[in-house]
Amino acid sequence: MKLFAILLMIAAPAFAASRNNQERVENLLKRMTLDEKLGQLQQSGGPVEGSLDLVDQAGKGRLSSTLNVRGAKAINQIQRAAVEKSRLKIPLIFAFDVIHGYRTIFPIPLAMASSWDPAVVESASTLAAREAWMDGLRWTFSPMLDIARDPRWGRVAEGNGEDPYLGSAMARAYVRGYQGDDASAVGRLAACAKHWVGYGAAEAGRDYSTTEISERTLREIYFPPFRAAVDAGVWTFMSAFNDLDGVPASANHWTLTDILRHDMGFKGFVVSDWDSVLQLIAHGLAANEADAAKRALSAGVDMEMNSTTYMKELPSLIKAGKIPMAVVDEAVRRVLNAKFALGLFEHPYADESKKAGAPDEESRTVARRAAERSLVLLKNDNGVLPFFPGIKKLAVLGDLADDGAAVLGSWSGDGRPEEAVTILAGIRDAVPETQVVFSSETVIKDADAYVLVLGEKGDMSGEASSRAYLGLRGEDLALARGALITGKPVVAVLLNGRPLTLTGIVDEVPAIIEAWQPGTEGGHAVASALFGKINPGGKLPISFPRTVGQVPLYYNHKSTGRPAEDENHFTSKYLDAPVTPQFPFGWGLSYTKFSLSDLRLSAPKIARGGSVTVKASVSNDGAMAGDEVVQLYIKRRGVSVTRPVRELKGFSRVALPQGAKKEVAFTLGPKELGFFGLDMRYSVEPGPVEVFVGTSSVGGLSASFTIGE
Ligand code: GLC
Repeated sequence: MKLFAILLMIAAPAFAASRNNQERVENLLKRMTLDEKLGQLQQSGGPVEGSLDLVDQAGKGRLSSTLNVRGAKAINQIQRAAVEKSRLKIPLIFAFDVIHGYRTIFPIPLAMASSWDPAVVESASTLAAREAWMDGLRWTFSPMLDIARDPRWGRVAEGNGEDPYLGSAMARAYVRGYQGDDASAVGRLAACAKHWVGYGAAEAGRDYSTTEISERTLREIYFPPFRAAVDAGVWTFMSAFNDLDGVPASANHWTLTDILRHDMGFKGFVVSDWDSVLQLIAHGLAANEADAAKRALSAGVDMEMNSTTYMKELPSLIKAGKIPMAVVDEAVRRVLNAKFALGLFEHPYADESKKAGAPDEESRTVARRAAERSLVLLKNDNGVLPFFPGIKKLAVLGDLADDGAAVLGSWSGDGRPEEAVTILAGIRDAVPETQVVFSSETVIKDADAYVLVLGEKGDMSGEASSRAYLGLRGEDLALARGALITGKPVVAVLLNGRPLTLTGIVDEVPAIIEAWQPGTEGGHAVASALFGKINPGGKLPISFPRTVGQVPLYYNHKSTGRPAEDENHFTSKYLDAPVTPQFPFGWGLSYTKFSLSDLRLSAPKIARGGSVTVKASVSNDGAMAGDEVVQLYIKRRGVSVTRPVRELKGFSRVALPQGAKKEVAFTLGPKELGFFGLDMRYSVEPGPVEVFVGTSSVGGLSASFTIGE
């Protein structure tokens, strides 16, 4: 991307100077009419190429931002109306859902979380920001930080899985990647932490459904990734659709103001989700649009996405004294402050000589590495993988193998399926000397080995794509049976946006690679793993159930008073299924063999505000270099409230050549050891702490220490 380097040299000095934005905001605010103030609180959706209506609204100062319009020419047409025609010449900010890439598409966020490598996310979002910036965009509705414990919910694809510690690490990486040190810099975007809050706890896994979440679970599970985004300097938040304990998230003063502003110290602005203000009526909360506008703005939603209740209803509400002008002013202040800080007043226009082109070598290299590091080897009986060299005839089965959209997944921005490397194409590129034959519906009889590509079409997960059944499609299972009958080596590659139940292949197929939706370079990455050019080292960021009847199923569950015991009927279990997952959180194998040893703690006892260092050694005992993700978990008992059976409090992905050994060290201090006790205050409570160091959320080495009074 040398083109980008030139841009950086030209534009960087222009962003270097920063003036007192507060003063500029106040000077502007006091000159604004009510209509112009409300114009700053309106975001409208538009077609890619923009529209005359958006130009008209911008020229009247009645529009603050658009979503989905992209391309320097279309954006400048609207921006010129605002900056050259409107009375106060306030620039718009142009937004789009750049979720896991803009034109070059990276693995879905759930896949990148499987890398357990924040650097993967940071490099992907840095490149995505550059491409989007070239097309005139300055704001992305990403990262999506919803913790998800229910794979029936289609949006698990967009998040970072079930754990708040891993989710927080990824949240920081996304914000750093999009915004850099200065979000006004060339090639950077304002990020947006969404969906605030609790959206992933949708009852029955049905999108947009009700959520009932205790305050302690909100604070311990759902809030942390958002707090991490605030601490990383995220410029915007998006309020969610869901009813949260009776108060929809887009009208919830406790979450939007008390927690987000006063507790977390968020200084940016909040945009609603699409029509989530208007939907307060459908929730049965708001009586009408005026009531919806009043409740949302008063709660802390600054900008309204798509619906226009603010523009339409606030003038009369203010006139009637039902909403103080000060509330409107505060929302406008936040939006203007962001626009000044993002350099939009100095640089409102996009360079029309530039555009985001097809993925180039650099972006493909970044995408391929992200995909390679996101692969999870779920099983590999008898070392079936990597494939032996010199296969004469390899059969690749399943329609997904030749489907570009299946590797891109949901929210694939401006990505083009035809620019994606399918699994079939990747395999063909990797072994040109092998005869690679493909069938989407019947089994090829005389192959030397078989690759089954199974899972979900690209549109079977994502928004409004909940599923009541999580099993593989019938045609996939038929192909698996046909391949297994041949008695030749059979491996499965999963392309999916959520955990699936793998009945029919999980016991029968000796090797399974979870590729998720691996993006533009997915086929090359998967082929590299199949033929041993890389050794997969990813780990699951979300539990895989054996059957959908187990859901919700997650590793950091409570013990209950009757933890499941096979030999004791009256314990918390099923008559017809185990309580354990098919594959647990943190699970992932390797082509080599790792072992952990020498677990030691720096002290047997610490003071309440103190810290303890946890060390262990990891060895590569196998015949191939590889990565292991060493994971640190704790468990508390005998404190003021029940605690999860395990909580992730540290991880490190370690690369080890064969025969090598390395020490990993973690620190457990107040940040890791504290929790919300009976008094709902965050504190470190005295008592014993069990420590587990392992390669998944199950098993591992254990030790314990005590926190003194
Ligand atoms: C959608 C999604 C949200 C997205 C927004 C704009 O409904 O819930 O994640 O950013 O609308 O596309």
